[in-house]
Amino acid sequence: RMLKRQMQCRLDINRLNAVFLAIYESLIPSEEEKVKQEQFFMLLEKLVNKEWPEAGLYLYGSCANSFGVSKSDIDVCLAIEDAEINKSEVLLKLADILQSDNLQNVQALTRARVPIVKLMDPVTGISCDICINNVLAVVNTKLLRDYAQIDVRLRQLAFIVKHWAKSRGVNATYQGTLSSYAYVLMCIHFLQQRRPAILPCLQEIGHTYSVTVDDIQCAYFDQVEKLRGFGSGNKETIARLVWGFFNYWAYNHDYANAVISVRTGSILSKHEKEWTRRNGNDRHLICIEDPFETSHDLGRVVDKFSIKVLREEFERAADILHNDPNPCATLFEPY
Ligand code: GTP
Ligand code: MG
Repeated sequence: RMLKRQMQCRLDINRLNAVFLAIYESLIPSEEEKVKQEQFFMLLEKLVNKEWPEAGLYLYGSCANSFGVSKSDIDVCLAIEDAEINKSEVLLKLADILQSDNLQNVQALTRARVPIVKLMDPVTGISCDICINNVLAVVNTKLLRDYAQIDVRLRQLAFIVKHWAKSRGVNATYQGTLSSYAYVLMCIHFLQQRRPAILPCLQEIGHTYSVTVDDIQCAYFDQVEKLRGFGSGNKETIARLVWGFFNYWAYNHDYANAVISVRTGSILSKHEKEWTRRNGNDRHLICIEDPFETSHDLGRVVDKFSIKVLREEFERAADILHNDPNPCATLFEPY
């Protein structure tokens, strides 16, 4: 009977693994889609360089960090060195230029928290947000992309977690839940903490890449091709990791005291970061340290209502994975 039960378990976990891998594969953007994105980006570059020959245009966010699922919007950053510029004026000018090139739904949102121009390319159907001088986001995009090269399980785990978060309605910072960027950091941290570790801590090993942005030094080991196979001593499957991830955030994370830190590959205390009290609008109810802007808690958007929603969703996911013989249908059920 014991043996039979064990074999049944192994069958179930193998099947669950296959289901998660199939979901992952179905979310990956096609080559064709990537080509369209690149062509659209080149068109933008041409238009921008006509007006600002010295400026740089960069892709950031999920279209460039390798955690983007099919049909995502693209995030673009216009970097202008000139310290004198007025962001609103640049955005309005930019909107003007794009409008006269037949791009659709061009809108300059100059009063948003992060001011942007939004637009849509009628040829490819791609939507795009352009911001000005958000160079830190370009650098953290590179960090995430570099981590993704080390072990494919990071990309698989993050796709499943993002898909879950979008299905369950817990991926909206304006509603007090977490950004995609925060979820990817949670996945990286989780894989750094496995024993044996699946990911290293790139900021703790010899720096091969270093830039200073907005007075913040961003440095880490970026020769990740040398780290392929780093996690091969750990044979955990994606099904095991997804379960472990939700179980950690449902039952093992110390919400009262702990800060997760990809920068150090460890858990820090709220006390040492002075994140124990509410600070303005930052409540620190779930603490995720930004790898470069270390004073920045990506959990700051979470309030006393949404923390409850989040934790209940983590528990729901962990319980489904623990008890449900066919968990995928329920796990991703629209809320
Ligand atoms: P999806 O659009 O949901 O697929 O994911 P995304 O990776 O594009 O995430 P999102 O649109 O939330 O953020 C876009 C990028 O902005 C992220 O990849 C980060 O580079 C950056 N970003 C987002 N939030 C923050 C933040 O609070 N601080 C910093 N420094 N960068 C951020
Ligand atoms: Mg995005």
